[in-house]
Amino acid sequence: MKWAALVGGYGSNLEAMLEYGNPVHLVVSHKANVRALEVAEKYHIPAAVLLPKDFRVREAFDQALLNLLQRENIDALALAGYLRWLDPAVIAQYRGRAVNLHPALLPSFPGLGAVEQAYRHGVFWTGVTVHFIDDGHDTGPIIAQAAVPRYREDTLEDLRERIQHHEHRLYPRIVEAVDTGLVRLDGQNVVWEESKSWINGHY
Ligand code: GAR
Repeated sequence: MKWAALVGGYGSNLEAMLEYGNPVHLVVSHKANVRALEVAEKYHIPAAVLLPKDFRVREAFDQALLNLLQRENIDALALAGYLRWLDPAVIAQYRGRAVNLHPALLPSFPGLGAVEQAYRHGVFWTGVTVHFIDDGHDTGPIIAQAAVPRYREDTLEDLRERIQHHEHRLYPRIVEAVDTGLVRLDGQNVVWEESKSWINGHY
């Protein structure tokens, strides 16, 4: 499948995906001048910037996004630091072929600032979630999670780094599993072709 990575920040997960060999054919950023665009350039992946401020309403922004994805024959979406909710029109086109990465153990701490929310809450464990995207906000069927400890002496930055380390290992493998059909969405259920131990053994 031809994947688009939707980004908006530092691009470390985009870099992990490209290093791993995920078939990313297009990078779309909702912010200009972000490092993720430099990562795209370094790996010679075509990149586009769509700025929300250039569109009068949210639907127009997402229609432009959808037009771009369809013009480039994109089959699947991997969100990696894309800090916007996708319009239902986009989600409908990519149901079962759109995944999101979230830096917490959903359904705990959805939305923005998840690492900080968990840190301030004083959790002992937090983590990383990869899920299929549905119409809700961070509510889609969960494909995989990694639990990450938060130690007493951790600063927020320590925790953020530990979570990112796990993101970089987990996300490319899950994108690959979706890409190859090893895991798929059946209604609201996540179905693995083999035992889920596959991911435990490889991650
Ligand atoms: C990642 O930690 C990802 O989990 C988070 O943004 C970061 C992007 O980092 N996404 C969300 O918080 C989505 N709600 P990156 O640009 O270095 O890949």
